[in-house]
This record gives sequence, C-alpha cells and structure tokens, in this order.
Amino acid sequence: MSEAVEYERIGDIAVLAANNPPVNALGVDVRRGLLAGIERAEAEGAKAVLIYGKGRTYFAGADIREFGKPPQEPWLPGLCDRIEASPLLVVSALHGTALGGGLEVALSSHYRIAVPSAKVGLPEVNLGILPGAGGTQRLPRVAGVEAALDMITTGRHVRADEALKLGVIDKVQDGDPREIGLAYAQELLDSGAPRRAVGEMPAPDPVDFDAVYEAVLKKGRGQLSPAVAVRAVQAACEAPSFAEGMARERELFMQLMESDQRKGLIHAFFAERAVGKLPELKGVEPRPVHQIGVIGGGTMGAGIATAALLAGLPVTLLEMTQEAAHAAKDRIAGNLAGALKRGKISQQQHDAILSDQLQLATGYDALSAVDLVIEAVFEDMDVKKQVFAQLDAVCKPGAVLATNTSYLDVNEIAAATKRPQDVIGLHFFSPAHVMKLLEIVVADKTAPEVVATGFALGHRLKKVSVRAGVCDGFIGNRILSTYRTCADHMVLDGASPFQIDKALTDFGFAMGPFAVSDLAGLDIGWAVRKRKRAEGLDPRARDSSYADKLCEAGHFGQKTGKGFYVYEKGKRGGTPNPEVLDLIAADRAAQGITPRTFTDDEIVRRYMVSMVNEAAKVVGEGIARRPLDVDVVLLYGYGFPRYRGGPLKWADLQGLPGILDDIRAWSAEDDYFWQPAPLLEKLVAEGRSFDDLNKDAE
Ligand code: 3HC
Ligand code: NAI
Repeated sequence: MSEAVEYERIGDIAVLAANNPPVNALGVDVRRGLLAGIERAEAEGAKAVLIYGKGRTYFAGADIREFGKPPQEPWLPGLCDRIEASPLLVVSALHGTALGGGLEVALSSHYRIAVPSAKVGLPEVNLGILPGAGGTQRLPRVAGVEAALDMITTGRHVRADEALKLGVIDKVQDGDPREIGLAYAQELLDSGAPRRAVGEMPAPDPVDFDAVYEAVLKKGRGQLSPAVAVRAVQAACEAPSFAEGMARERELFMQLMESDQRKGLIHAFFAERAVGKLPELKGVEPRPVHQIGVIGGGTMGAGIATAALLAGLPVTLLEMTQEAAHAAKDRIAGNLAGALKRGKISQQQHDAILSDQLQLATGYDALSAVDLVIEAVFEDMDVKKQVFAQLDAVCKPGAVLATNTSYLDVNEIAAATKRPQDVIGLHFFSPAHVMKLLEIVVADKTAPEVVATGFALGHRLKKVSVRAGVCDGFIGNRILSTYRTCADHMVLDGASPFQIDKALTDFGFAMGPFAVSDLAGLDIGWAVRKRKRAEGLDPRARDSSYADKLCEAGHFGQKTGKGFYVYEKGKRGGTPNPEVLDLIAADRAAQGITPRTFTDDEIVRRYMVSMVNEAAKVVGEGIARRPLDVDVVLLYGYGFPRYRGGPLKWADLQGLPGILDDIRAWSAEDDYFWQPAPLLEKLVAEGRSFDDLNKDAE
C-alpha cells in the first residue's frame, strides 16, 4: 500500500484513509493508494469500502502542482470510474473541503455522508479548467442541471446543509469522519442498500444551453472556462451514453488545460499564497496587537478603522476636531451598515462595535496605550512629519507606527521619530474595508518583527499582503503612474479616452483608466501633476493639460457628476462626456500634434508593455522581491484580469523578446518614456523569464 492512503479492515468494511497533508490533494501517490485499496478490498472479500481523509479535510482536489507535467497513471477520471464500478458498496465520509477532484471521488462513491461544517464544490473554473473526472457528468445527474450549472460555472463552495438539499450528499451527521462513515456503511450493509452508481443514472433534462453559454461568457469578462464548462454539462444531457459524455468532458478539459488562461489562473493561485513567504520573516515573531489607533478619519482612515473593527480589534480614532471625529464615526457607521446588509455581521455585533469597540479622540494622549497606529491624514509630508513626531512623544515603547501614505517617502517620515525601527508603511486600497490588497512598505530601518507584525495584521484583516520597498508610489501606484501616462500619450496622439477604456475592458480589466480616474476623483491626479510640475518636469517628458481643464471647471469625476464621463443620478456607470474631446483637440492643436488612428490591439499592447517595463524596473530595483509580488498587487489592487495571471505572467506568456523589441521600436519616437528596464534586457539576453526569477526565489 502507498503511505498516502492507509488501509484498515473493520469487519466487512475496508477503510481507506487518505494521508497527504495539508489538504489531501489527489497526487499520484494518493491515486495509486486508492486504486490499490479498492482492489485489495475486493480481493479480500470485504463488502463495503469507506473513503475518508485524515487531518483537516477530505480531498481538496487534484494536485494542482502536477498540472502541465506529464500525467502519471492512474489518471483521476479512470480511477473515479473504477471506484464507481466496484461491486462493493463504496461510501465517502466528507469533512473540511471536498473540492474539485475531491468531490468527483465522492460522486463516484455510491453513498456520501458529511459533517455539518463540510463544504463541497467544483471550483475548477477558477483555475481555468473544468471538472475533468466526471464532475460535469455526475453532478447534474444527482443535483439537476440548474444546480450543477450554478456550482460548476461559479465554483462556489456549498455548505453541507445545502448540499444535502441539492442531493449532492445523502446524509449530514456530526462527529469524526471515520466514525460516522463506518456507522453509515454498516447501516447501509445492514439494510441491504443497493450499490448506487451515479454514472448509471438516467441523463438529466436539458435546458437552453446556448442561452446559458452566452450569459456565462458575458459575465466572465473574457474568461473562457465557465462557458466551456457549460458545454460539458450539455454533454451530460445530450451525449448518447455516459461514456460519451465523459469523452466530451475530457476533450474540453484538455483544451482548457492547454490554454494561457489556465496558466494565468494557476499562477495567480500559487502567487497569492507565496507573497507572505519571506525569508526575512522566518522565525521572527510579530509583536502582539490588541488595540490599534487610526489617525485621520477621512475616506481611508474610516475604511481602515472599519476593517479593524470587523476583525475584532478595538480602535481609537484621532481626528483634528470633535466635528471631524463625529463625521468619521458616521462614515464608519455607514460602512458597518453595509456589512450588516450583506450579512457579514449581525445587528448585535454591529451595535456592540459602535458602542464599545470604537473610541473617538482629538488628543494624542488617547494613543498612549495602543499597540499599533495607522496614520491616514492628508498626503502632505509636513503634516505627516508632525503627526509622527507627536506619536514618538506619546506612544509606548515597541508600538508599531504605520503610515498609509500613497506615494511619500517612508524613510523621511520615519526620520521624524527617534524610533525609525518601529515605522512602516501599511498601504491600504480604497475602500479599505473591502479591497483585499495591503502593501507592506519596508523602510531602511524597519525592524523584522515590525514587518512580521504588518503581515500578521494583514492576515487578521483577511488581506493579501505584499512586501514593497520605498520609492515614489511603491509597487502599485508607481506602475500605475507609468501606464496611466502611456494612456495620456495615446490620447494626445489620437486615441480617445473612451476607445482606450473600451479596449482595456475588452482585454479583461474591471475598468479602463479614465473611468478609474473618475471613480477615484480627478483632483487626485491633478494634485500629483501639479506637485510634479512644481518639482520640475524633465524637459523630455511629455505633458498634457486637457484633464487639468476638466478640474479647473470643477469636474472631478463621479463625485461631481461629471469627468471623462457624465453620471446621471440613479444610473450605473456614465456616458462619454463630449466636452472632453474638445479639450483634447485643443491640447493637441496647442502642441502641434496631428492625431492618428489607433487600433484596439495597439492600445492594449502599448498600455501593457509600459506596465511590464515599469514592473521590471520595480523588480530590478528590489522594490518588489519577485515578479509574482507585482502580479498579486495588480490583480488585487488594480482590477487586472485574474485569468491573465498579472502583468509579468502575461509578459512571459507573450514572450519577453517581442516586448523588448516593441520598447526599442517605440523609443525611436519617445526615448524618454520608452527606456527599457535593465532587468528585461538581462532576461532577454539570457533567454530567461520572470517565472524563472520566481523559482530562483523559492
Ligand atoms: N493541489 C496542490 N496543493 C494545494 C491544493 C491542491 N489542490 N490545494 C491547496 N494546496 C496547497 C496550497 O498551495 C498551500 O500550500 P503552501 O502551504 O505550500 O502554501 C496548502 O495546500 C494549504 O492551502 P491554503 O493555504 O489555501 O489553505 P486554506 O485552508 O486557506 O484553504 C483550500 C484550503 C480551501 C482547500 C484551498 O487551498 C483551495 O481552495 N485549494 C484549491 C482547491 C481546488 O481548486 N481544487 C480543485 C483542483 S482542480 C481539480 O480537482 C481537477 C479535477 O477536476 C480533475
Ligand atoms: P481624506 O482627505 O479623505 O482624509 C484625511 C483626514 O485626515 C481628514 O478627515 C482630516 O480631517 C484628517 N486629518 C488631517 N490632518 C490631521 C491631523 N494632523 N490629525 C488628525 N487628523 C487629521 O484623505 P484620504 O483619501 O483618506 O487619504 C488619507 C491618506 O491615505 C493619504 O496619505 C492618502 O494618500 C492615502 N491613501 C488614499 C487612498 C485613496 O484612494 N483615497 C488610497 C490609499 C492611500
């Protein structure tokens, strides 16, 4: 027997216990062990087989690390068929998460029992594939086509009580999976229950699959796997036999397995788990954090306070005046009301948070006992320095002092204190209680346990935390500044903001850059442009004034009802603001530019290449530790399409030499903006990829 599956005989029942921590993924050893276990049980004359998982879960799916490598026998679909075909009564006992191939093994068992906390699901589409071991054929036979389509196209995790109602499992019972499984198998044997193979059940009734396909394709914003999965479910209804349905599932599965989208999504899966794995944190204990302070209760401060309160951390919020403090409390209350409405907290929790967990203050003494403070005051270095000097005077020794600055130099802020080792950047994204990304900005003198404390706080707030170094804009905003500038150049040269936004949403971005500016507020970019002009622009840098004109007229985007788009009350989204085209035309005329046409492909290529080039600089300078850190920042903070894996995964899939060729070609027209990143040149010269750098860092 394989060590990954333990065999035990209890009376008439052969027990197969998977033991492949941490999640009992169905790697080759587990598959071999299950096959050997079924064969041995049959040879030994057992009457029933119980399959369960040791540790924290039943099988959480196929072993994703095997994807893209030569497959090793037995393959999962064949194994599932073999389990189902067994003349013995096969029972699966589920706990933890029975996902993907895990649920497929359960569905090829003849009966399924689960503990109440178990969850089941077929999340394959989120990895760019579809259930490939009979899930698309067996699930519709037990749950009906509608429920199967919902589970398979969304990949959602379904709780045991709902799975019972849907017919996915047969019984829910509290207890140890081995014990409840044994009792259930014995009960079935005693009652003479028949062997019940889902594959032998009649084909389910069809629905209008073409309509479902179109709707799912549209919802996926270019992601293919959910739509392709619809066709596999269709085969469950329409194929002449179960075996032919399985063959169709296999064919579609293999198509997706070969796709770039599969590569992108699996990269994203492992990248988001790798970001927190840092050599500098090995063996470093975070400092305990029991209560936190937040300074400034505007958009960000209120959002950060909300995130902390929702995670059970008491917050002391400091504002400049009583009125401002109460306005901040109102903002937090609004955020909490949203959480209540979405069922994230109960009314009781909501009330308790507001009455007991949030303290308002206007004097720094209120922060003397907190373990960690996050500053979210105006983006102004002098104001930040004053705040940190005051924190230095009142905070207890060892308190972590964090800034939420978007762009400013965290070293300079740290230098305003006598304890720079305790100072760090914790850069949240707006709205801070919703957005999952947290950049943890490590300054020159930040102590390792302060970095560890940042990551521990991120984990507690359920954020995806990424380490960044200090530079103007850290990882995300620095790269954003570059690709946003690229978009401005294309506008000057002839593209319209509306064409650019459309080309990029067609590419898969949640929003185009101009719609994003409207959402964030055009005043933010205006302030940055004014600051940069005041600092003195490089004479070779191209500048534009059309967006300033919008701001000068009081149009700041969504909050004023007008920006690049016009927003009508009560309507979602906006319609293009025609005045913008006149402003752009005037800007072009003033700069002597004759506009040319851009194809959507060229727009996407220039935008993406500018993003990749800046990202390569960010990695090359050590601002991001690995290419995957950049990818996760763009995925979680900037609406980058997950199925493309992030900008640097996209670059690898496109081919780095072609990207460098484009940069060199475009530098002939603007050699200031299009300066190739030295890291990109090095990788191309060495014939290596960004993913090779990720592997080097493992
Ligand atoms: N294969 C390989 N490794 C896996 C894995 C899998 N299916 N699922 C999780 N892991 C690894 C993670 O990478 C992580 O490794 P690390 O500790 O080295 O970083 C470790 O297991 C623990 O995972 P998490 O940190 O994610 O643990 P959580 O407790 O937060 O979540 C989980 C557990 C809900 C099971 C989550 O890991 C998950 O969603 N896993 C993927 C499930 C999935 O997509 N299954 C379908 C696979 S595709 C398939 O089955 C194809 C089939 O149809 C043919
Ligand atoms: P905001 O203008 O909405 O809020 C700032 C708040 O700070 C105001 O309520 C103000 O009264 C208060 N304040 C100012 N000086 C203070 C002081 N000395 N003591 C106490 N309170 C003081 O600004 P916003 O958008 O919340 O930004 C705050 C910080 O977060 C800035 O550094 C910004 O760059 C950063 N940030 C902003 C993001 C955004 O999308 N708005 C995203 C990420 C970071």
